[in-house]
Amino acid sequence: MTLPARPLRFVRGHQTVSVESAPPDAMLLDWLREQGQYGTREGCAEGDCGACTVVLGELHDGQLQLRAVNSCIRLLSSVDGCAVFTIEDVARTDGSLHPAQQAMLECHGSQCGFCTPGFVMSLFALYHEAGAAAPPGCIGRLQAQQAVSGNLCRCTGYRPILQAAQTMHSHAPQSLDTEALAARLRALQSPLGQRIDHDGRTTWRPASLPQALQCRADQPQAQVVAGTTDVGLWINKLHQQPSQVIDLSAAPDMARIEERGDALRIGAAARLTDAFAALVRHYPDLAGFLSRFAGQTVRNAATLGGNIANGSPIGDSMPMLIALDASLTLASVRGVRELPLETFFTGYRRTLLAADELISEVVVPLPRPGQVVRAYKLSKRFEDDISAVCFVVSIRCEAGHIDAVRIGVGGMAATPMRAARTERALLGQPWTLATMRAAADVARQEFSPISDMRATAEYRREAIGNLLIRLWHELETDEPVLRELAR
Ligand SMILES: Cc1cc2nc3c(=O)[nH]c(=O)nc-3n(C[C@H](O)[C@H](O)[C@H](O)COP(=O)(O)OP(=O)(O)OC[C@H]3O[C@@H](n4cnc5c(N)ncnc54)[C@H](O)[C@@H]3O)c2cc1C
Ligand code: FES
Ligand code: FES
Repeated sequence: MTLPARPLRFVRGHQTVSVESAPPDAMLLDWLREQGQYGTREGCAEGDCGACTVVLGELHDGQLQLRAVNSCIRLLSSVDGCAVFTIEDVARTDGSLHPAQQAMLECHGSQCGFCTPGFVMSLFALYHEAGAAAPPGCIGRLQAQQAVSGNLCRCTGYRPILQAAQTMHSHAPQSLDTEALAARLRALQSPLGQRIDHDGRTTWRPASLPQALQCRADQPQAQVVAGTTDVGLWINKLHQQPSQVIDLSAAPDMARIEERGDALRIGAAARLTDAFAALVRHYPDLAGFLSRFAGQTVRNAATLGGNIANGSPIGDSMPMLIALDASLTLASVRGVRELPLETFFTGYRRTLLAADELISEVVVPLPRPGQVVRAYKLSKRFEDDISAVCFVVSIRCEAGHIDAVRIGVGGMAATPMRAARTERALLGQPWTLATMRAAADVARQEFSPISDMRATAEYRREAIGNLLIRLWHELETDEPVLRELAR
């Protein structure tokens, strides 16, 4: 497919800039620093520290959305049609500080200062999400914690920073002309897609699923990317230099989330922030678990399709989606097929995806009456860490017996798995501690995990059995759930 070649155009500060061309692996952070904008820092170059945080303004269903992302793993080409805010843009033109900066100053939220621009950018996004006119106290501690969950500080300690987040609305308001910015961004959108050529290398930016499928059919060797939160690391750390990239982030129909029939249909390129919000509306008990997937800045860029296609045995969305009985829609120019997610993985990082296919949708059944879902992630750090073990259970009881159960596990085998033997040990059994103990023994024997830097095989085996027993205790002490189970 021949997408039209055109330069990158995006809004920086108060201007629309045009970048004639860029290599397919050029990162936003490098470009900013090459422009002499050194406020945005590089710490880890792998999305882990937040020193490089910038805020992107994007149109979503015609509305402006401001979100903090990691510029170190953000392709420069992917900001076409967006507004990019960096620390250089937040103070007022007379030099007085933005409320986020003023609050950081007054709360003593900075010491060496290396992390500070990144924190301020996360707070800037939070401030404008709440609205400049929002009253003091509108941001709670939990919301503040979530907003900076992708930012690390090695010297200040987080209390003053969280206090800054919670008090920034008490300073003189600083509003953003969102209408004018949205109009400016609308003028930059094109339904024709985009091709960016650079020294014999090409980035393809299809503007729709059909365009993306044609690009995929024409360039089966190209590196597909969506949020680049995995591929960005292959570029920065493994020094991969893809010569052809197909970027799905400009195809709005691939990011659509809708409820149809008895299922939630999540576009594969929907950002995790949006996909998780939709899931939590139906499965509120997943909120805590999903808030521990990476940090906010990664979730603002990463996609569900990327997590699944990457096929990591320790990816967090797959155990959950397996427990929820989700299926995938795989699309190509040849047509569409749907398959249960649990059958998609064929071996370590191997899947059934054909060379000309893309994941177009993830289909998640809506909750059934009496269905209870619990998800557990064991990792060394609470936030922004990869699972050693992930364990998600969907269970329903009828007249004191377990009449439906599905369990998804991660970190226990070469792929995310369904715990079929453990499920059989539970199905039809009375809802008692003895049942859970017996099933826990089965769970400990069902898998042969490996030992690695995250956990030993023994720990993993012991842990999943214990999680089943923990599930029982949690549900027994959770009265609304107990009433539901006893129905
Ligand atoms: C700091 C940090 C923390 C992280 N924490 C977690 C965590 O807690 N849990 C976890 O599970 N993961 C975590 N990750 C990994 C990563 O964020 C996820 O795997 C994410 O969902 C990948 O999505 P993406 O859109 O960024 O994928 P990309 O990097 O763009 O792509 C990943 C792979 O998927 C393919 N792909 C993408 N979309 C499609 C599609 N629609 N069809 C076919 N192929 C496609 C690409 O070709 C590529 O092979 C973390 C990453 C970072 C950097
Ligand atoms: S430099 Fe650490 S997250 Fe980007
Ligand atoms: S102030 Fe030094 S790293 Fe945060």
